[in-house]
Amino acid sequence: MAWSAIQYTTVLLLVLLPPPCSSDDRLDPGEVLSPGSTIVSGGGGFALGFFSPSNSTPSKLYLGIWYNDIPQLTVVWVANRESPATNSTSSMPKLLLSNSSNLVLTNSDGRLLWTTSSSSPPASTAVLLDTGNLVIRSPNGTTVWQSFDQPTDTFLPGIKIGIRYKTRAAARLVSWKGPEDPSPGPFSFGMDPTTFLQTFIWNGTYPLTRTPPWTGYLVNGTQLQMNTSIILYLAVVSNEEEIYITYSLSDGSSHTRYVLTSSGEQNLQIWRSSAWVVDGKMPTNMCSRYGYCGPHGYCDNTDAIPTCKCLDSFEPTSLEDWNNGRFSQGCRRKEAQRCDDGFLALPLMKSPDKFVLLENRTYEECEAECSRNCTCVAYAYSNVSASRSARDTTRCLVWSGELIDTEKIGNTAGGDTLYLRVAGLAAAGVFSVLCVSQINLKR
Ligand SMILES: *[C@@H]1O[C@H](CO)[C@@H](O)[C@H](O)[C@H]1NC(C)=O
Ligand SMILES: *[C@@H]1O[C@H](CO)[C@@H](O)[C@H](O)[C@H]1NC(C)=O
Ligand SMILES: *[C@@H]1O[C@H](CO)[C@@H](O)[C@H](O)[C@H]1NC(C)=O
Ligand SMILES: *[C@@H]1O[C@H](CO)[C@@H](O)[C@H](O)[C@H]1NC(C)=O
Ligand SMILES: *[C@@H]1O[C@H](CO)[C@@H](O)[C@H](O)[C@H]1NC(C)=O
Ligand SMILES: *[C@@H]1O[C@H](CO)[C@@H](O)[C@H](O)[C@H]1NC(C)=O
Ligand SMILES: *[C@@H]1O[C@H](CO)[C@@H](O)[C@H](O)[C@H]1NC(C)=O
Ligand SMILES: *[C@@H]1O[C@H](CO)[C@@H](O)[C@H](O)[C@H]1NC(C)=O
Ligand SMILES: *[C@@H]1O[C@H](CO)[C@@H](O)[C@H](O)[C@H]1NC(C)=O
Repeated sequence: MAWSAIQYTTVLLLVLLPPPCSSDDRLDPGEVLSPGSTIVSGGGGFALGFFSPSNSTPSKLYLGIWYNDIPQLTVVWVANRESPATNSTSSMPKLLLSNSSNLVLTNSDGRLLWTTSSSSPPASTAVLLDTGNLVIRSPNGTTVWQSFDQPTDTFLPGIKIGIRYKTRAAARLVSWKGPEDPSPGPFSFGMDPTTFLQTFIWNGTYPLTRTPPWTGYLVNGTQLQMNTSIILYLAVVSNEEEIYITYSLSDGSSHTRYVLTSSGEQNLQIWRSSAWVVDGKMPTNMCSRYGYCGPHGYCDNTDAIPTCKCLDSFEPTSLEDWNNGRFSQGCRRKEAQRCDDGFLALPLMKSPDKFVLLENRTYEECEAECSRNCTCVAYAYSNVSASRSARDTTRCLVWSGELIDTEKIGNTAGGDTLYLRVAGLAAAGVFSVLCVSQINLKR
């Protein structure tokens, strides 16, 4: 009896006292969101609101999105990461959807902190979706702005990390400055803006680590994470407008995210009942840091402890440095290279950086192109998976000059066969002859 009375009172209260702010999954024009209240996505997975990442005084407030159904505050997106808001007893910062259908964040003193700049028709709404995406929708249902286009440090399923061909606009992750400081840190993750064939983590403008060039740039690979039942579908998608990487998860997966940490590591994190468990990271070890083994060196990941080695026909530039674990000077040729040297096939390699992509070549043409050009020191070839929108499905990479950031990866996923020009190896066929005569002509 007492129980139903309480229930009755609760219902009455809800009916009589509608919450002062929007309490569902959206913000309509004129509605305001202030500290203390949140917007929760339809399925309850994500919340949008104000949070304070540290105990600093006066407390800095950020507008962000976090997981709503786990006990640990885990922020996946921040709007005003460069201009924190402050709470005061007299007035509060607020987020509202303006008459022009833009989200506008103002500080307690009325100062503008952050705003979207879409041209959306009146009567649009801002909706927090169950993917963690905050979208502004026009009345006809078109998305005119979305937070997924401006990721912060977290790569959620459905986000696209890539580049638009025409504008060169790139979506990148940028780390927090520190565990309690969402302002932009030095590390970023994104697609190589010159080749579109690989991704980097940069420290400022310096590469920190690099993924192997796609062996097919239109893959939708399935990557089974060890020790879990989660299947992660990682896809590299290229169409007329853009190239990007994205991923999705198998049904019923627990929360999973890639995060670029404030120490410059890309972690794959999975929520397991009470904590985030790291299930893979990049760079994986010292040896896999960009250029760690120096020019013409490579990191051998098939050894129990990954170690630096010299590519075939090369030796350490300084044996003393090398033996003392200083690899940055790399390796030098044992003997001078000649134009008629042949190629040695090195399977299951992560191809070096600084390649040139030759378009629309068959394997034979690719090999010939490198053979006949004396400055060409290596090549690698791959067929890319067929796609109707792809104009070119070949991938012929050639190198001249130093080979940097090579690895032996030891599994088939993402591995190239690298054809390396090796001194003293007999070349097959006519191309070496052509090559010699080219040299003679030049002299
Ligand atoms: C900000 O101030 C309001 C009103 O005093 C309070 O309800 C809210 O909890 C504060 N928010 C934070 C994040 O400190
Ligand atoms: C928004 O439009 C309403 C109705 O047209 C108007 O009363 C209000 O002043 C406008 N608000 C702003 C901030 O322009
Ligand atoms: C929906 O509205 C947007 C924004 O006003 C407009 O650009 C788009 O053409 C509309 N789409 C349809 C299908 O009406
Ligand atoms: C990033 O660069 C800074 C300065 O250039 C350097 O001090 C720091 O050690 C680098 N961090 C990493 C993780 O490489
Ligand atoms: C990749 O494959 C998965 C499973 O078949 C599918 O759900 C997903 O939409 C695909 N992704 C892309 C970008 O095609
Ligand atoms: C892998 O499974 C073992 C045994 O079930 C468990 O102890 C461990 O925590 C799991 N590791 C991860 C990364 O989930
Ligand atoms: C690719 O090369 C072939 C033969 O060299 C040529 O016929 C074809 O038009 C080329 N395709 C493209 C897209 O350049
Ligand atoms: C040989 O390769 C170099 C470097 O890739 C390139 O600049 C040059 O044009 C090539 N020469 C010929 C004849 O293809
Ligand atoms: C690429 O595809 C062509 C035609 O399907 C095939 O003949 C060739 O062997 C393939 N080459 C490689 C290196 O996979």
